[in-house]
Amino acid sequence: MSALPTPRRLENIQTDRGSLPVYATGTVEQPWESYTATDHDVWRRLYARQREILPGRACDAFLRAQDTMGMTPDRIPKFSDLNAALGAATGWQIVGVEGLLPELDFFTHLAHRRFPVSWWIRRPDQIDYIEEPDLFHDLFGHVPLLMDPLFADYLEAYGKGGVKAHAIGPDALMQLARLYWYTVEFGLIRQPDGLRIYGAGIVSSKGESIHCLESAAPNRIGFDLERVMRTRYRIDTFQKTYFVIDSFEQLMDATRPDFTPIYARLAGQDTIPAGSVLPTDHVFQRGSGEGWANGGDV
Ligand code: PHE
Ligand code: FE
Repeated sequence: MSALPTPRRLENIQTDRGSLPVYATGTVEQPWESYTATDHDVWRRLYARQREILPGRACDAFLRAQDTMGMTPDRIPKFSDLNAALGAATGWQIVGVEGLLPELDFFTHLAHRRFPVSWWIRRPDQIDYIEEPDLFHDLFGHVPLLMDPLFADYLEAYGKGGVKAHAIGPDALMQLARLYWYTVEFGLIRQPDGLRIYGAGIVSSKGESIHCLESAAPNRIGFDLERVMRTRYRIDTFQKTYFVIDSFEQLMDATRPDFTPIYARLAGQDTIPAGSVLPTDHVFQRGSGEGWANGGDV
């Protein structure tokens, strides 16, 4: 990944911690003409493979949005085309980036309804797994739900919360990162017809799309804000625990309060290992733990 340019200060936003600087960094024009036939073919194969397994697994809002926003199945979509649909639906925009951004830059983009998308796509030998978020993960996984008005509001609020947490300190940032991980990346939602996926890290992975719903190994536990913010996670294996929301309204309502006192309270409490089940949990499934990697829960 190439080095990012020095952040340029754009403006300040007002928060209850005072006026905070806003930066713009590293956003790039999507070099669409430079994609090779191999790049388009990787997109086409991944798109077809996921769309084959996601009906009945991904939540209705995700599938509906992906259908209506005009993602081309056979070639890498143009960000400008998707932005027209996103802009009309919720006012979100996607911006091209080289890779992961510094935390404050990432939060600042979200706070302004801009979602950073890696412009490059994985190689054919990385179809099943890639460590860094590439275009397929970002675009296929994250962007459809930006069409959903409630989820769109949640992610903007998350970005604003991130700017604030960044000013509070590393513990607050860690707690907020866990919330992102267990909702935006690996969240499950309860639909009338059963549990469904909304997390981008799941819908962009064939293995985890099946595992998260059908395997006996992981825990599936009802969402509880502070419980989630205390739960450690691993980034290198399937999750040991998935948290289930009832609706995006529930997520909005739970995250609306000021987190400042929550951060302070949680700082005095132990973190929870990724695979633990607590007596207070609302358990949908207690995982068998089969195949879990031992130790190393971050
Ligand atoms: N309400 C949170 C705060 O005051 C911000 C937030 C909103 C965080 C939504 C996450 C998700 O910090
Ligand atoms: Fe992601």
